[in-house]
Amino acid sequence: MPSQLKNSAILALGRGMVAVYGALGDPGAKLFRKSSKKDPYPLYESVRAKGTLVPTRLGLLMTAEHSITGEVLRDPRWGILSPSDMAMIDETAYTADGRVLVNPLKTSFLMRNPPDHTRLRKYVGGWFTPRALRRQMPAIERVIEDFLDLAERKGTFDLVDDFAKRVPVQVIADLLGVPSSDHESFIRWGTALVNSIDGVRDTRELRLLQDTLREFDEFLGGLVEHRRREPGDDIVSELVKHDDLALDDLIATTELLLVAGFETTVNLIGTAANAVLGHPEVRAKLLADPAYADRVVEETLRWDPPVQYVARVPFEPVELAGRLLPVNQPVMLIVAAANRDPKVFADPHRFDPDREDVGKHLAFSSGIHYCLGANLARMEAAAAVRGLFRRFPGLRAAGPMSRRPSPTIRGALHFPVNVGVTKRSLAVDKS
Ligand code: HEM
Repeated sequence: MPSQLKNSAILALGRGMVAVYGALGDPGAKLFRKSSKKDPYPLYESVRAKGTLVPTRLGLLMTAEHSITGEVLRDPRWGILSPSDMAMIDETAYTADGRVLVNPLKTSFLMRNPPDHTRLRKYVGGWFTPRALRRQMPAIERVIEDFLDLAERKGTFDLVDDFAKRVPVQVIADLLGVPSSDHESFIRWGTALVNSIDGVRDTRELRLLQDTLREFDEFLGGLVEHRRREPGDDIVSELVKHDDLALDDLIATTELLLVAGFETTVNLIGTAANAVLGHPEVRAKLLADPAYADRVVEETLRWDPPVQYVARVPFEPVELAGRLLPVNQPVMLIVAAANRDPKVFADPHRFDPDREDVGKHLAFSSGIHYCLGANLARMEAAAAVRGLFRRFPGLRAAGPMSRRPSPTIRGALHFPVNVGVTKRSLAVDKS
């Protein structure tokens, strides 16, 4: 069967299975259904109520428990299932001359196990230490103020497109040495790649993914050549100096930094701002003390994290929660549910930035794949929330927030807001 036709058939079959099993009450299938996106937390609670390790008809085990999630993430007997082992459909994209294109969600170090993971993560680790990131802070604050200026002129603006998206893309593009003329393409590629995280759902999405990989590869090929000739103070310039780093690994690492660092942070900023709008007592504290934004961001990561779950498989037969699991048995670790485990967090569904144990959340995962950009994400999101409410203390929703169509990555797709009464508008009124 030609591969496009085969792909369409598998995609249709997959959709049918999810619909049928979901209707039969299977928690794994329900999670992948559209209706779970608005509020998946009741579903997570039903998984918790069913037990520690809950089987699904999709062949996965699911857990909502904080202790099991942390245990698996930190245990070296567990790791990432090679994407080729789980691929149902062929998502491979090729160049015109038949070269296989890099897909960061398949081959970057996020998807690799030691020793490759350890070796590849080291090439970029140094750029994300708190000390290295402090250098980025003035640029981050500047970008935030610039976009708040634009938003203020508009009065009503989209918190996602006009603000939350702009900050992370500028920061990651600066780190990679990508000129501002390419930021729009960067946003487009980042969005398309993140949307493919749940697997492509139809042939249109498959084509979009393959086109994106082609464009991104072409762009990075050019950037790599440019940085070989004219090195700058950026990650790509540093990576091209390593003769022992294969070009495909260089491209996968660079693309991973965009994919992992872009939409996740956009969602964190959007969800945090929405949480402040929905909790007047939190807004009052934030207005009185802008440094409170750090706590707001940390609690947002616990309460409604941008990455809802991760998956792992054991490399050898292991016992988990009293069950013996075979090699390669996939377990879905629902981080968002672990973050609301009542055994760890008191009154877990309440948004409370003052809670003592807020830092125990697993929003950035744990163990060897612990998010490389966690410090950066925290800094960016706190600066964005601080800047937003300092500039617009009367910020208010101007329409309903729409959600991303993904069960894995959670956050706002669009959120119309109005700046409300600002210090500047008060000054104009008085004059
Ligand atoms: C709110 C924002 C973010 C969240 C919630 C987040 C979440 C995560 C999670 C859950 C993982 C681990 C996945 C797993 O264990 O399978 C991860 C890994 C990673 N993240 Fe983030 N991330 C965020 C921002 C960023 C940023 C800003 C960057 C960099 C620019 C970044 C770069 C990475 C990288 C490179 C990895 C792979 C680490 C490894 O496999 O060793 N992330 N992130």
